[in-house]
Parts: sequence; C-alpha cells; structure tokens
Amino acid sequence: MFMDFKVADLSLADYGRTEITLAEHEMPGLMAMRERYGDSKPLAGAKIAGSLHMTIQTAVLIETLTALGAEVRWASCNIFSTQDHAAAAVVVGRDGTAEDPRGVPVFAWKGETLEEYWWCTQQILRWPDGDFANMILDDGGDATLLVHLGVEAEKAGRVDSPDTTDNAEKKVVLQVIADSLAEDDGRWTAIANELRGVTEETTTGVHRLYEMMKEGSLLFPGINVNDSVTKSKFDNKYGCRHSLIDGINRATDVLIGGKVAVVCGYGDVGKGCAESLRGQGARVVVTEVDPICALQAAMDGYQVLTLDEVLPTADIIITATGNKDVVTVDQMSRMKHQAIIGNIGHFDNEIDMAGLERYDGVTRKNVKPQVDVWTFPKGNSVIVLSEGRLMNLGNATGHPSFVMSNSFTNQVLAQIELFTKTDEYPVGVYTLPKHLDEEVARLHLAALGVSLTTLTDEQASYLGIPVEGPYKSEHYRY
Ligand code: NAI
Repeated sequence: MFMDFKVADLSLADYGRTEITLAEHEMPGLMAMRERYGDSKPLAGAKIAGSLHMTIQTAVLIETLTALGAEVRWASCNIFSTQDHAAAAVVVGRDGTAEDPRGVPVFAWKGETLEEYWWCTQQILRWPDGDFANMILDDGGDATLLVHLGVEAEKAGRVDSPDTTDNAEKKVVLQVIADSLAEDDGRWTAIANELRGVTEETTTGVHRLYEMMKEGSLLFPGINVNDSVTKSKFDNKYGCRHSLIDGINRATDVLIGGKVAVVCGYGDVGKGCAESLRGQGARVVVTEVDPICALQAAMDGYQVLTLDEVLPTADIIITATGNKDVVTVDQMSRMKHQAIIGNIGHFDNEIDMAGLERYDGVTRKNVKPQVDVWTFPKGNSVIVLSEGRLMNLGNATGHPSFVMSNSFTNQVLAQIELFTKTDEYPVGVYTLPKHLDEEVARLHLAALGVSLTTLTDEQASYLGIPVEGPYKSEHYRY
C-alpha cells in the first residue's frame, strides 16, 4: 500500500525498533492504555496530526495511538530533536521492511532547515486520499498556529508579505501561507472545520492557546495536557533534571562541579535544571521576575541575582523561562571567555540569536553538530548550544522514557476525551479531570516499588474525600 513519508534513513529501523522495545518496558502508563483500550479502540476514526519531538518515547506514543484505532501522521516540533532511528522504525512499523514500510507516515529528520520544518508540518494535516486531520496533538503549538494563520489569511483574502519581517521563521511561515493562498483551495478553512480539537503538550503552546481564547480567535477546543500535575510537575521538572546535564555533557564535556551556573527562570523546568546543576557540584545562581519563584529559589538555597550581576563570574547560562530576549547579545559579548549558553525553553528567542548573528565583527566556528563557538571582535568567545533551541533535545536525546510515559499517558487520555466526547467541549481550553491525573500517577507506582497507603473509611470521611480519590481540591498546588 502507498505510504508517503520523509525521514533520514530507513536502514536505521532495526536499531530504532530495539530501542522502542526497551522503552516500552519503561513506559507502563502507555502500555496500560494499550491493554485497557486495545480492544475497544476508542480512537477508531481519529486522524491525528502529531507535531512533537520525533524521539523513541514518541514512537511508543504513536504506536499506542494506532493500537487504540487512530490513523496518525507525524512531524517533529523542532528542527534538531528528531532521533532518526526512531523515525525510521515508526515508518517501517512492526511488520514492515525498508522496502515495504507499513508503519506510520513520519516527516522528520535531525537537522531540518526552517523551510523543511514547515513543509513537514503541512504534511501531517492532509491525508493522501484528500482527507484532513480531525485531531491535532501539538507541542509548542506550531501545527495549531499554522491552521489559525491559514484560516485568518483565507478570510482576509491576503497575508502579509514575507518581506515585512526580519524574523527568519516568520518569513517562512508567511511564505507557506502565501503559497497556499495562491493555490486558492480553501484548505485551511476546510482543515479547521474538520478538526475536533488539539491536545497541547507544553507550557509555551498552552500559553498560545489561552491567548487565542482571550482574543476570541481560537477555532477549536484544546486540552491543556501540560497542566496535568503528572505532566508539568514531572516531565518539566524531573525530565529536565535528567536531560539538561546530558545535553551539556554531550555538547561540551566540561566539568560542571565548581562552576558558576545560572538558571534563568525558576518555574517547573528551572527547578529541575537548578537541582541537577547543584547535583554536579555547580554553584547555582537563579534569575527570576516573579517574587514567589524568587523566594522559592532562595529558600531552596540558591542565590538569586540579576543576569547582569552574575555575568562576570558565570560559566554556564541556561534559559528556562518561555520568555524572549532573556539573554541579550550585549550580555553575551560581556560574558567570561568560553561561557556556555544553552536554552531549554521551547523557542529559540530566549537567547537573542538573531542579534548575535547580526553583531558587527562576530565570527562563528562550528565545533560539531549543534555546538558553535561565537567569537567577538575583542577575542572573547561564547559556546552556544543548539543555535539557541531546546538543548536537551538538540544536544542530547530529551527526557527518558519513564517520565515521558506520564506525559504521554495524559496525551492519550486527552485525545480519547476530545475525540469521543467532542460535544462536551465547546471551543475553550480545558485540563483533564483530577481523577485521570491521579490515575496516570497510579499506573507508574508499581514499577518503582511504591506501596500506597489506603485511607480507612473513617479517615476518608474525616477529610471529606472518597477512599478512592480524588484526594486534592482543584486549587491544590503540589
Ligand atoms: P513556568 O511558567 O513554570 O516557568 C517559567 C519561569 O520563568 C516563571 O517562573 C517566570 O516567572 C520566569 N521568567 C519569565 N521571564 C523571565 C525573565 N526575563 N528572567 C527570569 N525569569 C523569567 O514554565 P515551565 O513549565 O518551567 O516552562 C519553561 C519553558 O520550558 C517553556 O517554554 C516550556 O514550553 C519549556 N519546556 C521545555 C521542556 C524541555 O524538555 N526542554 C520540557 C517542558 C517545558
């Protein structure tokens, strides 16, 4: 049967399959979803457009969605985050071969250009038979954004010229929309009409959804997967605690102990980053704008300063804010010689990379993929990881399977919820109910040898909660 796809190298499929098999053992939540819903197939009829880092863990998610009946097409949500062996294995599938692939169409490879990235994002929304996706599974909101920009342009009958912006990425997106308008096929409106909703993985994507809802432009409902407790308080924190260090080590192999490491932002991601750097013996300094998070960092034993205050002594600077211009080019030019700069937030505008490229007299030397030394005219250099994009996925392999099993079990539950109960979700942004959040956690306890205490009936009635939960009110913060 014809299958369209574009990945780096299908001969990597066996390697990918072996790692997927190992990962399945570490992803008990996803395997429980297969067990529970494999026969009833609640996602039969779902056509899911997935835009999320194409890693081994994501491969297990994709194959869980198909085991539940969905048809799936996939792209990565970052130009550097694809693991080519994972992409190959998903395309080949369990029963296929490189000559006769039978898996899921994937459009992703490590090291895409921006043009290729947005081409891939378009491929996941349209099925070869002319059908469109009816669900989006997004990470950072790029697939959702593309549909919204397309619909807006089709309504207006025009789109801004790509020449109106200096922003390289925006230029490419405007060109994509301009090209589609030239074809005049009304595709974006048709896709939006088909879509039942989106389930969004990360803080930054969720932020975009709430913004669109506030301004009244949101076209379909979204489930905010990020704010399931078993997502943001686990993946963002413990995942980054693991993969930040992994990225720094693979990129530079510099000894972290004794260095001054700065973590910009002490949210869920920042908390995990700071803990892992301290674990390596770094002297960790945190920067924050929010007095509550600044106080938390101080009470956790970190010095809290502004970036300018710490700049003269900082050896490693990590941004984890989801904000823009957190590290300016002027600050980069004043850093210690060979300071390491990396971003673990979703987009590459936390560090002013565009400003760095434009800086008068600066030179760039590529050390190896995703590691560059930028030298300023005075002779001082900084080492920039993954061109300012997510360094834990660009320089390493992202979060490990066990923590992603929590995140992705929420994704599967959210897809089932939106797809099967579409009428119960008018346009808006929702979180999953707490009993499902607790269920995701419960599915991961046995693997860690956890014995859970059961409330007695008397204790449950004393606290005014059911024996089987939910145990906390909606506003409890964990
Ligand atoms: P969060 O909202 O919990 O934390 C961000 C923190 O940054 C907040 O406390 C905020 O006050 C602070 N902040 C904002 N502007 C600042 C500035 N100019 N200077 C210093 N601090 C500032 O968000 P969360 O969940 O920690 O996510 C942060 C980013 O990481 C998001 O873009 C998210 O999408 C991304 N993310 C990346 C992951 C990865 O694997 N690389 C995993 C999960 C999230």
